[in-house]
Amino acid sequence: MNRLTGKIAFITGVASGLGRAAAKLFAAEGAKVVGCDVSQSGGQQIAIEVCNAGGKMVCFGPVDLSSPAEAQKWISEGVADSGGIDILYNNAGGARFGAFAELSHEDWGFTLRNEVDLVFYATQAAWPHLMARGGGAIINTGSAVAVRGNPNMGFAAHAASKGAIVAFTRQLAAEGAKHNIRANTISPGPIKTPATAGIPPEPVERIRAAIPLGRWGEVEDIAYCALYLASDEARWVTGADFAIDGGRLAHRYEDLDQGAAGGGFHFLSRLGSLDLDDGFAFLDLIALGFEPLDYRALLESHAPFGQIHLGSHRSLRTAATIFSEVGKSSDSSAGLNGTCTSGALKRTMGFFKRHLG
Ligand SMILES: NC(=O)c1ccc[n+]([C@@H]2O[C@H](COP(=O)([O-])OP(=O)(O)OC[C@H]3O[C@@H](n4cnc5c(N)ncnc54)[C@H](O)[C@@H]3O)[C@@H](O)[C@H]2O)c1
Repeated sequence: MNRLTGKIAFITGVASGLGRAAAKLFAAEGAKVVGCDVSQSGGQQIAIEVCNAGGKMVCFGPVDLSSPAEAQKWISEGVADSGGIDILYNNAGGARFGAFAELSHEDWGFTLRNEVDLVFYATQAAWPHLMARGGGAIINTGSAVAVRGNPNMGFAAHAASKGAIVAFTRQLAAEGAKHNIRANTISPGPIKTPATAGIPPEPVERIRAAIPLGRWGEVEDIAYCALYLASDEARWVTGADFAIDGGRLAHRYEDLDQGAAGGGFHFLSRLGSLDLDDGFAFLDLIALGFEPLDYRALLESHAPFGQIHLGSHRSLRTAATIFSEVGKSSDSSAGLNGTCTSGALKRTMGFFKRHLG
């Protein structure tokens, strides 16, 4: 109940989703919350809820943090009103999405302003106050897209923004340490918030199936990480990026989550386009229980592999068998000399030869 007692926490984007949940939790843990949002009514509503529940919160709005003047005004008026600042949680943001080839300069610019610039403006405005206070905690909001691309979504601008935030935060940590200012990012996986509420059921289910812990995140899953980073419990934590994502980034090949044949088909077609680190691809297939015969069936029924000769099939089967026998056989590399006509398959064979031969 008292993990933030005596702290003054500035949180951006409190009218909705993750910011709203953080405002409630931080206040319940004893912080005085100074919120802001571009939506005035939503921000006021959460401030009233928090105060009715016995917490302390004010919310400024409408504040558009992509304007340096408005960000500066929020920080200076909030500090004057509350007496200082110990925590800055840069949660607010909003991107525009679109397939890369069609992404307009306007949407690119909007996304960088509304996901990167706003963090810079609020943080630079807060920095001297944090220094004057003898230190504090900055929490920025990254995303899984900062570290991994998504073939199915038009995330180019969003990925560039969130990658920038993670790097920016690391640099803040380096420069802030001598002032006792800690800076970390939280990179949420897919979380149920108003921002994701419009995603249709089929992708929602596909995304869920790719999360090892088996469900979408709840707003509190992120708020609890932010609470820890804001508190003195994290006094030796800075420059870190926390993936709070149900284990999603622990998965290497999400396509395989779709299950045996479907996943395998898609996977092999990507292998055919030569963009995987070949050998490991096969190690994964084998680890997932694909028998050599499954390879043959998949290859034969999948058009792009029509050019593969029988020799390649034998090679694949041999390679799979050899891998399953690794450590048991000393001369099994003899079977790796089948004919491969695909560059990817040749590289796969090369991998097996290097590692098993
Ligand atoms: N929901 C997810 O799955 C998810 C995943 C990864 C990262 N994130 C990140 O988490 C953060 C919060 O996401 P959410 O899902 O709660 O979104 P949300 O849309 O529900 O809430 C964002 C809030 O930020 C406010 N905001 C946006 N631009 C603003 C601006 N220029 N000035 C002031 N306020 C502004 C909005 O009005 C809104 O209240 C974002 O940075 C988002 O990129 C979310």
